This record gives sequence, C-alpha cells and structure tokens, in this order.
Amino acid sequence: MLVNQKIKEVVTKLGGEKAFLYLAKAKELAAKGKSIISFGVGQPDIPTFDNICEAAKKAIDEKFTGYTETAGILPLREAIAKYLNERYGSNVKPNEIVVTTGAKTAVFLAIAAFIGHGDEVIIHDPYYPAYAEVTKLFGGKPIYVPLRFDEEQGFRLDLKEIEKRVSDKTKMIVLNNPHNPTGAIFEKKEVEKLLEIARDHKLLVLVDEIYDNFVYEEGEFHSVLEIEPDWRNYILYVNGFSKTFSMTGWRLGYLVVSESIAEPIKRLATNVYSCAPSISQKAGVEAMTNPRSWEEAKKMVELFKRRRDVMYEELRKVPGFEVWKSKGAFYMYPRVKSALDKLGMDVETFTMWLLEEHGVVILPGTGFSESEMGKHYVRLSFAVSEDKIVAGIERLRRAIEERIK
Ligand SMILES: Cc1ncc(COP(=O)(O)O)c(C=O)c1O
Repeated sequence: MLVNQKIKEVVTKLGGEKAFLYLAKAKELAAKGKSIISFGVGQPDIPTFDNICEAAKKAIDEKFTGYTETAGILPLREAIAKYLNERYGSNVKPNEIVVTTGAKTAVFLAIAAFIGHGDEVIIHDPYYPAYAEVTKLFGGKPIYVPLRFDEEQGFRLDLKEIEKRVSDKTKMIVLNNPHNPTGAIFEKKEVEKLLEIARDHKLLVLVDEIYDNFVYEEGEFHSVLEIEPDWRNYILYVNGFSKTFSMTGWRLGYLVVSESIAEPIKRLATNVYSCAPSISQKAGVEAMTNPRSWEEAKKMVELFKRRRDVMYEELRKVPGFEVWKSKGAFYMYPRVKSALDKLGMDVETFTMWLLEEHGVVILPGTGFSESEMGKHYVRLSFAVSEDKIVAGIERLRRAIEERIK
C-alpha cells in the first residue's frame, strides 16, 4: 500500500493534545456505563448563547453558506477591530485582521509564516502544546523557559532566564496571557519587560490572549495592545471566540498583524483553509456586536469565579496537593509531587489511575511541559458545575486517602 511509505518523521513525532486523548478515553468508559466527572478539556460547559445561535440559524435560512474572502467578512473584521480598540485603545484596522478557524489556526499561521529550519522560539514552560509542536513541524526549535513560582504572586515569567536564552538563532518569543495551564496573569511590568527584551534583540512576539475575558481580579490583566502602541512592528496577536462566547466547536479565531504581513499570511491561509466557516462568521458578528452576548459572557465569568473559589477550597483538602488560586483562564495547576511520592506513582500513572479506577479526569502536567513543570503538576478545568467540582474532588481525595492509609 502506498500509504505505507515512510510518513515524514516530524509528523510521527508530533505530540497531540493530552486533553483530547483523555476526552476520548473518558467517552469510551462513559459508554460502558462508568460514571465520569471530567476536569479535562478546556471549554466552558455553558452552551453558546442563544442570540449567537439564532444569528447562525438566520445565516443558514438566508443561504449565507458559500466561501467568503479569506481574511473574513468585513463586518466581522470591523466588529473585532472595534472590540480591541474600545477595550485596549489599540487602533487596530480591519485590514490588519485575518479571521481563522479557531485561535489554534492563528497560532499555526503565525509560526508557519516566520519559523524555519534552525530558528529558535522561546516558550514559557508549562505551555499550550501547539506553540511547540507547530514550531517543530517547521523545523524550528522550542526553547523552554520554566515559569518561576512565587508564594504570594504565583507563577511569574522568568525574565532573566528568557533574556539569557536568547541566541543568534532566536526568532520569536511566545506570550500566553492569561495563561493556560496555570491560570496566571502576568503583571504589566513583566509584560513590558518581555516586550523590551524582544525589541532589544529584534525578536517577534507571538501573543495569545484567548482568555482575555476570564480575569477574576479586577485590573490585573493588561493586553499587549494596550501596553505597546507600536505593536505592529513585532507583535503577532492571537485571540478568538471559543472561550469568551463558548463557541469552541464553531472554529472561529483571529490573528492581528501589520497590514504588510497580513497580505502574505492571507495567501498562506487561502492555501490552508480558504476561509473560516461562513455561518460561524455571521454568528461571530452577532457575538461581538450585540450587548446581550457580552452580558452573558460577563455572567459566565462571574460564575466561573465562584467555581474557582470552590475548587480552590476543595483542592486544599486533598493530601499532597499544593494549590495556588489562579487569577485568570479557567484552570488550576496544583503541584502534586508530594501526593505522587506518597502514592509511588508518576503523574501519568496517577491521572490514568484516577480516570480508570475512579472516573475522574484530570490532566497530567506532562501534557503541557517536558520538564519538572510537567512531572509534578496536574491541570484541572473549573468550567464545570459546582456540584461536579465538589463531588469530583471528593472522589479524588478519597481515592488518594484510601490508597496511602
Ligand atoms: C492558550 C490557548 N490558545 C489557543 C487555543 C485554541 O483555541 P481555539 O479552540 O479557538 O482554536 C486554546 C484552547 O484551549 C488555548 O488554551
């Protein structure tokens, strides 16, 4: 069979996203009748808001079902620009926006357009997996710089180390803020310093702010678009609809770049996906422009804040878990080394044991890191009902207590 020819080595070596692996396994067990409580995959449990769904139905009724321009329909790009400019005072223009099939595709385009063989990309560790995997796909080398942990401030960027790791091969630094998987929000002065390092060394910065609305401490979050008036000189900005409007399955995100590079990026996009789904784009216009969707989004974030507090209190009762209360996104990233030592398990054995024996899905830190930052941590999503948070963590606590007693 022709397909048995050697598949490119780089593809075989690509990591997947552990969240999707655990999701599949949990579905398989649930189909066999096992009760499962999942803190795994990163998506809000609230359905997409009604007004957005209605707009999509209308788009279908009006047969708005063909290809659109690759960059996305103008009303959508105008709505995105208005949002960014009103919120961050950033002066983004519609022709500096490329609408993508989810934020993930925006990450892909940004890396594909700039990273080639031997180029180094500095990524803070732990990290959302696509940054590293797409870098490798194009022959680049991820350079991981662990976040620092400060008892009071939580996870911080290690700016000294980032600067130290810049070499003559470095092309890009990645900044994801608010941060998946730790729930950190990096301070304004940290972001400023990171941008300064990038400017000094003439590096691009890929900024992913997909969680910019999931901020639980007022005034903590500062977008690079607000901080850097000259963003178009070196920033590739990623955001999207998946999280804010609970639209993960609609596949709608965007990349903001200077107009001069938007043009070649559009040609790249045409060759990859032609355009984002037309129906989702109409839904996106409604999401951005109708205040009802923003009210729903705000309610969702308030709800998630309460859930975060509940999860924090519950996790603190689990033996061997060191918990830091996240400030943004919808994840907790406790350090579980002491629990693992007591159980005599590595983190992946631990999370698989929890799933298979106790029906609780949590993700091993190794899905977000190849270093100690992965081996000693787990990620839990609190985009899950309060009842499930309490019941799931109770199951987790009991499982550990029974095993180590
Ligand atoms: C940091 C980060 N960036 C990008 C994405 C991808 O978002 P989308 O579903 O819009 O492709 C995710 C999804 O979990 C994420 O956590």
